[in-house]
Amino acid sequence: MTLVVTGATGRSGRRVAEAARAAGLTVRPASRAHGFDWDRPAGWADVLRGADAAYLAHPADVGAPAAAGAVGRLAREAVALGVRRLVLLSARGEDQARATEEALRVPGARWTVVRAAWFAQNFSEGPLADELRQGGELVFPGGEVAEPFVDLQDVADVVVAALTDGDRYAGRVLEVSGPRLLTFGEAVAEVARATGRELAYRPVAARAYGERLAAFGHPPEEVAYLVDLFASLLDGRNAHLSGGVREVLGREPRDFAAYAARAAAAGAWAAD
Ligand SMILES: NC(=O)c1ccc[n+]([C@@H]2O[C@H](COP(=O)([O-])OP(=O)(O)OC[C@H]3O[C@@H](n4cnc5c(N)ncnc54)[C@H](OP(=O)(O)O)[C@@H]3O)[C@@H](O)[C@H]2O)c1
Repeated sequence: MTLVVTGATGRSGRRVAEAARAAGLTVRPASRAHGFDWDRPAGWADVLRGADAAYLAHPADVGAPAAAGAVGRLAREAVALGVRRLVLLSARGEDQARATEEALRVPGARWTVVRAAWFAQNFSEGPLADELRQGGELVFPGGEVAEPFVDLQDVADVVVAALTDGDRYAGRVLEVSGPRLLTFGEAVAEVARATGRELAYRPVAARAYGERLAAFGHPPEEVAYLVDLFASLLDGRNAHLSGGVREVLGREPRDFAAYAARAAAAGAWAAD
């Protein structure tokens, strides 16, 4: 099976590509470095032609208006080229993402949606990680809400198992989470334990967080979108576990403490 992996240089795509290769699939990486651009549909056919399946991780949040249009258009083009098996990465509890999930369901597609909890790797890769590494403090509008952070290795394993298990998971929405609920403060404490560094979590109101993002140069419409998104995602709706990892992989999800130990050993939070 030849699998097109969008976002192949990103956090989930990199791991999906690795897991797919380990399962014996042929991976065709598709990010801008590989000539695939979500903003340039004219080039999509060259990437899709001759493949059997595609993993879709839109770089903007899947709830962003542009994502639904792009995912729907790519799904139609993929099916027309014979690439019928499509797996979309989405987010648990994100009402704004449902239009993108709907857009995937084009006639002829054998689609699966993988709705993930917050990634554990948000703490070690990306902007939150930079803040922790450099300032030793995470400022975030997560209050005291509990979240079952999911290890991206589990997400990748679920994606690849869904792709390689015939049509068992076609037409399904799989919700995946880690094995236990942690507040953002507890997650930062786990990271501090794993690193031996003193790290702090400072909860702020969504509006104050938006002001910080604006001060860092994020455009006003992106700030407004993210503030709304975080306010809804962090209102307690996601403070429950999901069984997708157990259902698809037949084992417990990886625990946050194991993730933190592994990332710390790899130097994820070593001060610059
Ligand atoms: N963070 C979370 O906790 C969470 C939870 C659930 C779901 N999600 C979803 O995860 C998705 C993001 O996935 P991720 O975290 O794996 O990605 P990521 O780490 O943010 O990486 C983005 C990837 O997309 C590529 N990319 C960026 N702009 C592109 C463009 N215009 N055309 C083609 N490729 C482009 C990047 O590579 P190049 O720059 O090389 O092109 C990179 O490979 C979002 O849809 C989000 O809603 C996130």
